[in-house]
Amino acid sequence: MNNKDIYKVGLGLWKLPKDECAEIVYNAIKIGYRHLDSACDYGNEVEVGQGIARAITEGVCTREDLRITSKLWNTYHAPEHVPLALGKTLADLGLTYLDSYLIHFPIAQPYVSFETRYPPEWIFDPESETPEMLTAAVPLHQTWQAMESLVDKGLVKNIGVCNYNSGLLNDLMSYAKIKPAQLQIESHPYLTQERLIKLAGHYDIDVTTFSPLGALSYLELDMANKTDSVLTQPVVLAAAERLNKTPAQIVLRWGVQRGCTIIPKSSNLTRLQENISIFDFELSAAEMADISSLNINKRFNDPGDFCEAAFNKFYPIYD
Ligand code: A2P
Repeated sequence: MNNKDIYKVGLGLWKLPKDECAEIVYNAIKIGYRHLDSACDYGNEVEVGQGIARAITEGVCTREDLRITSKLWNTYHAPEHVPLALGKTLADLGLTYLDSYLIHFPIAQPYVSFETRYPPEWIFDPESETPEMLTAAVPLHQTWQAMESLVDKGLVKNIGVCNYNSGLLNDLMSYAKIKPAQLQIESHPYLTQERLIKLAGHYDIDVTTFSPLGALSYLELDMANKTDSVLTQPVVLAAAERLNKTPAQIVLRWGVQRGCTIIPKSSNLTRLQENISIFDFELSAAEMADISSLNINKRFNDPGDFCEAAFNKFYPIYD
């Protein structure tokens, strides 16, 4: 692995259980991870911070060696709430700055104070007789301006967005004084997103893909079936056999070889190791094309679906 490769695979922290999180983060840094993908909404930033602090205290790495991303939750889109949300995230992580701070979803929801509930998640008042997912009228350009102020204050090095489509990205580029450094989107062989990735490339925005292994994260949430797994596809198995790698390594390698940064999540040390060991082999052009041709535009993380199913609120952001 050369020095740049190290940041091409980040550890996704979504769904890392609180009681194991600090240990997993510490172990991940120990075996070579230097890029961590956190978010307020994951509910484990205190534990992530404990893992980071232990690694730094023990001299495994310095703060400057790490790239740490976090994300602004939907309930803090109003400009006055953006710095508060970042302050809470920094305090929880035990950091003085972030490398990247991203707008988590292009969905604004009413403010929920830290004392009321943290992280606030999607429902405005879960205790009410009729719990509801509400939205708020906060235009994204106002949120972006507040994000830019965080860069001006030196609290974050880069800002970016997640879950934007091409239209939103074009719009953002028309008013951004500080350009987005990153676009984070779901992408895997069943959702290759070539057009959006190409557009981001034209704007010189790095693309990070979440759920790079496809359905796996969604099985435990009942948002996918076992048959949705890309790891049993014949083209993936054939490449794994040829290169003597696991199917997961083939799919992850495909992700970075097409120029993206990937953030696979794992709570298992063997798989954590497996997932960063993808820089000593290459897929052929034909293998790359065959894996890309598995695309069926299958999205597992779609608020248009899960908000309607879970909160009876139809609020699509993709068409
Ligand atoms: P586990 O945490 O038990 O390793 P993604 O980040 O693409 O959404 O994938 C995360 C899911 O994939 C988790 O369920 C994780 O389970 C599983 N996973 C992560 N790495 C591997 C791997 N190398 N092989 C098989 N499953 C993996």
